[in-house]
Amino acid sequence: MGSGSIDGIKNKQKPHSLKEALKGKLTKKEFAHLRTSFDMLGNIAIIEIPSELVKKEKIIGKALLEVSPNIETVCKKTGAHKGKFRVEPVKIIAGKKNRTATYRESGCTFRVSLGKVFFSPRLSAERLRIAGEIKKGEIVAVLFAGVGPFPIVFAKNSEMKQAFAVELNPAAFEQLKENVELNKVQEKVVPLLGDVKRVVPKKLKGKCGRVVMPLPKGGELFLHEAFLCLNGGKGIIHFYDFVSREKGFDEAVEKIKNAAEKEKKKVKVLLKRKVRDYSPDTFQAVIDFRVSNAG
Ligand SMILES: C[S@@+](CC[C@H](N)C(=O)[O-])C[C@H]1O[C@@H](n2cnc3c(N)ncnc32)[C@H](O)[C@@H]1O
Repeated sequence: MGSGSIDGIKNKQKPHSLKEALKGKLTKKEFAHLRTSFDMLGNIAIIEIPSELVKKEKIIGKALLEVSPNIETVCKKTGAHKGKFRVEPVKIIAGKKNRTATYRESGCTFRVSLGKVFFSPRLSAERLRIAGEIKKGEIVAVLFAGVGPFPIVFAKNSEMKQAFAVELNPAAFEQLKENVELNKVQEKVVPLLGDVKRVVPKKLKGKCGRVVMPLPKGGELFLHEAFLCLNGGKGIIHFYDFVSREKGFDEAVEKIKNAAEKEKKKVKVLLKRKVRDYSPDTFQAVIDFRVSNAG
């Protein structure tokens, strides 16, 4: 159909891009600062607004609403992921005043409260990759589980027996429980509230054949607890780390080897993979490794 005119009234065609929607609303100089990429979390778009464009943020937000009918709310990032809960602060700049996104991934639905919990849709391929590795009947520990994307994707996309999901942020833990029910995986996913350092020795010692550690900042400080989860001291660990482009995977492998030496464990690296770019100098890496008892 496109644009046209009925009885002299012009029908406005939906813009195809943010740039098109902003035509005539920003100066040439302002256009040079505009970030045209944004994250979509279900019905909520999350965009970066550079300081030069703060005065135009409402106009940019409204323009984004015009681009896609799926976008009901536009948020801007107001800072980096921070604190031990790794929460990214956001501010609503256009659309409905709703911060809780409903997001779908790999046959699962997640409720995610922006500004209160961590969530990244950019890890979806990684979650599905690990689900593909999990064998029938396995018991998995997901340390640093957030609102549950790893264990819930595993429950729906593998034949695992059970996953224990450990999370410290009370808001994320409440949403983890909500998401477990929403996806009807109560039989398979067991949420555990608390610090990995306390929960693992009390509840998960020797229980699991596989451990997932999605805490790329400082995850090495919890390798002792990951080893402790393993049944008979043997199994597979998926370790995440932010590494410099200069040193690459060696940096992460070194951390694993140091921890294994202290624990008197043998480790064999099975896979090294770049998960995503993180900053101009760093990327997020995953190292899969097998653990066995030395000697
Ligand atoms: C980078 S986020 C990953 C969350 C989730 N796995 C995901 O991919 O969406 C790390 C999570 O670990 C939690 N966390 C940080 N330190 C923790 C600890 N010592 N024990 C348990 N959870 C912790 C944070 O609250 C946060 O939800």
